[in-house]
Amino acid sequence: MNPIKFYQTQPIPLELHKVRIVQKLNLVPLDRRLLAIKDAGFNTFKLSTRDVFLDMLTDSGTNAMSDNQLAAMMQADDAYAGSQSFDKLQKAIQDVLGKKLILPTHQGRGAENVICRTFIKPGNVIPMNYHFTTALAHITAVGGRIAELLHDDALKLQSDNPFKGNIDIEKLEKCIQEEGVENIPFIRMEASTNLIGGQPFSIRNMMDVRKVADKYGIMLVLDASLIGENAYLVKQREEEWKENPMEEIIKMMTSLADLVYFSARKLSSSRGGAICTNRKALYQKMEALIPLYEGFLTYGGISIREIEAMAVGLYETLDETMIGQSPEFIRFMVNGCMDKGIPMVTPPGVLGAHVDAMQFCDHIPQEQYPAGALAAAFFLCSGVRGMERGSVSSARDENGNEVLADVELLRLALPRRVFTLSQVMYTMDRLEWLFHNRRLIGGLRFTYEPPVLRFFMGSLEPVEDWPARLVDKFRKDFGDSL
Ligand code: F0G
Repeated sequence: MNPIKFYQTQPIPLELHKVRIVQKLNLVPLDRRLLAIKDAGFNTFKLSTRDVFLDMLTDSGTNAMSDNQLAAMMQADDAYAGSQSFDKLQKAIQDVLGKKLILPTHQGRGAENVICRTFIKPGNVIPMNYHFTTALAHITAVGGRIAELLHDDALKLQSDNPFKGNIDIEKLEKCIQEEGVENIPFIRMEASTNLIGGQPFSIRNMMDVRKVADKYGIMLVLDASLIGENAYLVKQREEEWKENPMEEIIKMMTSLADLVYFSARKLSSSRGGAICTNRKALYQKMEALIPLYEGFLTYGGISIREIEAMAVGLYETLDETMIGQSPEFIRFMVNGCMDKGIPMVTPPGVLGAHVDAMQFCDHIPQEQYPAGALAAAFFLCSGVRGMERGSVSSARDENGNEVLADVELLRLALPRRVFTLSQVMYTMDRLEWLFHNRRLIGGLRFTYEPPVLRFFMGSLEPVEDWPARLVDKFRKDFGDSL
């Protein structure tokens, strides 16, 4: 896509769509926001959208759908078995991802459950670039472990490494030799590695991983939930692929994997998920688990309307003007924040802009959850709901000890084509205010800690009454502004 040049104005990411259905938002008063975050146990997952102005929690199931997706939903062939809507999905997956055998699942973690139950035995190790919360939970639930094999600089939050999601090939070789081929059912690669800030891997790296997989006869599994965005950044950052259309880049990545799975809540801006492969034997191993855990093989727990939307959405990921909108807004936000001195994850990734909470709140010990505290404080001063991606999102080890996260991030998700540039600028402005007042933020401690995926429903409280300090300063600086 040719860049759009401006005459006088500094280049800004220009929306190449128009808005035809709108949803009214409310920015509720500060007092209401304070009550809301207290009631939510300082956990932004537990806020009601009644109290949220800009919902930057996630892009999962929140991307804007296109007119063509909505139109397709009206043609759904609702049938328990043999639905023609599933035929359309099969064709779309084959056309876009190049795999012909498809197992539908209700969402991404349904696919992870089926894959992990089928292939992992207790004691097995899964080498990967980096975990995702639900993938880790499913791997450990069946007795497996993970080995994260990123290059050392991938966890340096400010970096100019264009492919922080790459697997370190030397570490992969070493891991296989130490753990033994027989203990490694598959290698997992995640496109646009979510938890380190939506950072892509390169095609060159995936080819190298494939070579190692072939050398040892190990299966390669690709989490393709954010493959469109990974392909978009490959096109921008990997010299050899600059001229190739999105379709070729995506197909190259999927062709290198034996199994591809995805959350359609992300990939195709719909709901649902799927596992796909060209290898009949792998398909057959998993097939029986779909009716057991998900639904019949032609719907897998997904509403048929969403299956129609998935099919259309898959083709739309090939459209650079669609797929590029979120990464371009993220780049605008990350660069703008860095210019103001706010520590962000660089290079800008996908899915959202990520604030480095350990630097932002360098006065809060990691045991007091700086990213969780920052997420709560930011909601309080802006009405913007971000997501903690740090130690609150980690799990305790088998002895119940706290495992502090490698990175403490506040993720401000920018779902595809949802927010306007002025909303992004408001977010940046409030973040700058909070940065200048960051010493007023204090730590958090758990008051209720669920044993699995604790970040979803856990409750916390401030270690001292810092929210009151923040509220006072907000009033002093902003008067009666919302
Ligand atoms: N894999 C990746 C890379 C993901 O980002 C997600 C979900 C999943 C798997 C699980 O898919 O939610 O459909 O079951 N990510 C969401 C997020 C929840 O907010 O980043 P799911």
